Formats: sequence, structure tokens, C-alpha cells
Amino acid sequence: MSKKSIGIGLMGLGVIGGQVASVLSAKAEALAEQAGCPLVLRKVKVLPQDLARPWAQKMARGLFTTDIEEFFAEPEIDIVVEAIGGVSPALEYLTRALASGRHAVTSNKELIAKHGAELMKLAGRQGVGLRYEASVGGGIPLISRFQYDLVANKIGGIYAIINGTTNYILTRMEREGVDFSSALARAQELGYAEPNPENDVEGIDSTYKLAILASLAFHTEVSPDDIYREGISKLTSRDFQYAQELGFAIKLLAIAKDNDREIEVRVHPVFLPEDSLLAKVDGVYNAVLVEGDLVDKVLFFGQGAGPLPTSSAVVADIVASAREIRLGVVAGSGWRLGPARVIKPMSDVITRYYLRLNIADRPGVLAQIARVLGEHQISISSAIQELADPVAETAEIVVITHSAQEKNMQSALSELGKLTVVKEIGNFIRVEA
Ligand code: HSE
Repeated sequence: MSKKSIGIGLMGLGVIGGQVASVLSAKAEALAEQAGCPLVLRKVKVLPQDLARPWAQKMARGLFTTDIEEFFAEPEIDIVVEAIGGVSPALEYLTRALASGRHAVTSNKELIAKHGAELMKLAGRQGVGLRYEASVGGGIPLISRFQYDLVANKIGGIYAIINGTTNYILTRMEREGVDFSSALARAQELGYAEPNPENDVEGIDSTYKLAILASLAFHTEVSPDDIYREGISKLTSRDFQYAQELGFAIKLLAIAKDNDREIEVRVHPVFLPEDSLLAKVDGVYNAVLVEGDLVDKVLFFGQGAGPLPTSSAVVADIVASAREIRLGVVAGSGWRLGPARVIKPMSDVITRYYLRLNIADRPGVLAQIARVLGEHQISISSAIQELADPVAETAEIVVITHSAQEKNMQSALSELGKLTVVKEIGNFIRVEA
């Protein structure tokens, strides 16, 4: 098909949509060279409040519509770019875009994590592309790496820091010794954390992104609900002090493993050896370590959020779609879903543990704790005790265990909680080493 230009329809003119529009205009010449013909913005679906945004002032008024019918009635749109976010109405709009034979590009991780399989099938049936590079890791090329460069590998594991907000909070807690709430407040002041930070700090955002990566890597549908999840809100400055003393960093890690029999998918805080690559990823940066049978380990690092890096991925997807339209070929979504796989229950997962207990400072207490752990097949690797409160005669004990099964650890924790000498279970965090 010989086209003189490729028409773009943009849905959403928030921070990401505005930046995408700005790049399409500012880099029009270079992008036309890359795509093989000019990329022309034909229509922008906005909300009334978007019109007051600074970037809207620089655009031709005739481009805007608040009416979705008018948007879809525009005949010159070849590629629909969804930058609305959330599931509704993005799912309905994207479905409509694909059903009408348009290629689509989205940065929407929640939508792809929850509805990726049905959208990819629809795109396949329609013979159009659906691209979602910006849905995970912002500007870090990740999705295309799984679709192209890593396809010869059997992927065994993914270890990822894929939420910049939480990584920023953890970095502040580690460096400045502040507690979770003040690190969160600072992240909110700087605009990293949302006024309602639950999605980020409780690990929900990371489960969306891990669901996408695991589905791509393991060729099976992994939904966010399949993923065990714990956030970072229970971490305290004490945990960071002990982590440093013991030579660890604390990170919110998204982990996916495939041992052929079953897959393991979980998001939770972990102790990581301080000299490991992921332990050194600080601030709002993201990093994804992938293990493949041929490549061994590869590490992807960069800015996982923000309008500039995200627009880099969205515009690359637009150019890739434009090339396909020009050439009349569709490479496919790379979402090659095979049969459903068994997901390992969290209770069967095996890791090491950090355990912090507030105990009565009396003879024989340590022996009681060791007995409970021993009875649950949990072996102690190291232990440190500090005098916590000389007046109350309580102390804090920290134990690092050897590898143990989660269900044994949970039973041991419940029994430890019943001991009169255990005043409080301060925290327990899994150790990935
Ligand atoms: N809230 C996300 C983060 C933004 O902090 O990484 C990008 O998905």
C-alpha cells in the first residue's frame, strides 16, 4: 500500500498524551524519515479540562473533540493512540479502534495486564497491530526485547524493580533513615507519588507490569490476580538499619520464575545483597534482570515513568505501526499464549527470611525461638540481638534463616506470636540471595 501520510488519532491529552503530541510535532521530519512518510495528527479526543493545559494551547483547535463518535468518524486515522489510562473507557475505545481496522498503541499497563489477551486476539483477527511498549518500564525498551531479541531463549526468571515511586521511597528510607510516611510525603511533594498512593505503595502497579512481562516471557496468560502481592508500607527504619548492618538493601521486587512444572509470580519487599546489581538501582529508576537459557543474564535499566521516557516508547510504537501500514504486513503482538500453566501457590515458595522480633530479655528466650523455628524445618543462618528497652527488659532479635518453605514460615510465625516471651513480631521480609 502506498500511503502519502499516516494519520494518528490520539485519545487523551494528559501529561503523556500531551508529550506524545509535542514529540510528533517537534520531531516531525525525523519521524517521517523513520516511518517512510509523514505522521500526521488528525484528531485528539480530549476532556473539556484538557483544553486549558499548556500544550493544548499550542495545538490547532480543530484537532480537538470531546465526542468519541466524532473521533471515530474521522476517516484519516490509521493509528489510534490511547493515553487515557485505567480500564474504562479505555477498553471500550481500544476495542472499537481495533474492530474498525485501525492499528493501536497504548501505554496502559492496567488495561494490557487485565485485558491484553482479548485485545491481542481481536487485533490478530483484524490483521492490525496492538503495541504496548510504554506499558512496562516507561522508556526502557522491554516489550520489544521479549518479542524479538530474546525469542530464542527459554526465559527462566525475571527480577524487576518496576515501580519508580516505591524505589524512590525505599532509597530515601535507606539513605536518610526516615520512616515510610515521611518518605512518601516527600515523594508526593515531588510529584512522584499520587495523592492516593495505594496503587504504587501496595505493589498493585508492579503486579500489572509483572503480569505483562510474565505473559510475554512464559507464553501463558498471567493475570494480576495470579500474583502474590505485598507492598512497602509496613517497612520501618529499623528494618533498614538491620539490612545495612547485615549487608543488604531492601527493594520492592517483582519476581517471575518458570521451573517447567509451574510458574512463580510474586511482588513483595526483599532483602537483596548490597553488592547485587539490582540493589544498586536507586531513586525513581527501574531495572529488569532477565535470565534466559542462551543469554544467561541481561539487565535493562532506565527511567520507568515520566512523560519524556514514556513518549519515547509510545512514539517508537507509532513509527513501528506506520511502517507496517506502509508495507502492508503485521508482525503480530508477540503475545503467543499457549495453554494455561500451574501457578505455584505462595505457600510452596521457598526463600530465605529476615525476621525481627521484640522479645522479653530473659534467659532461655532465644532457645524458645530457635525451637519453634527448628520444629518447622527452619534453620537459622545468623542472629543478632540488641537491647531495645532496658526499663521494660525487652530486646530486639533479628534472625536470618536458610531457605525455608513459606507455609512453614507462616506456621512458625503464628506459633512465635503465641509465645509469652515474644512481645511483637516486628516484621518479616523475604531474602533473595
Ligand atoms: N507509578 C508508576 C511508577 C508510573 O512509579 O513507576 C509508571 O507506571
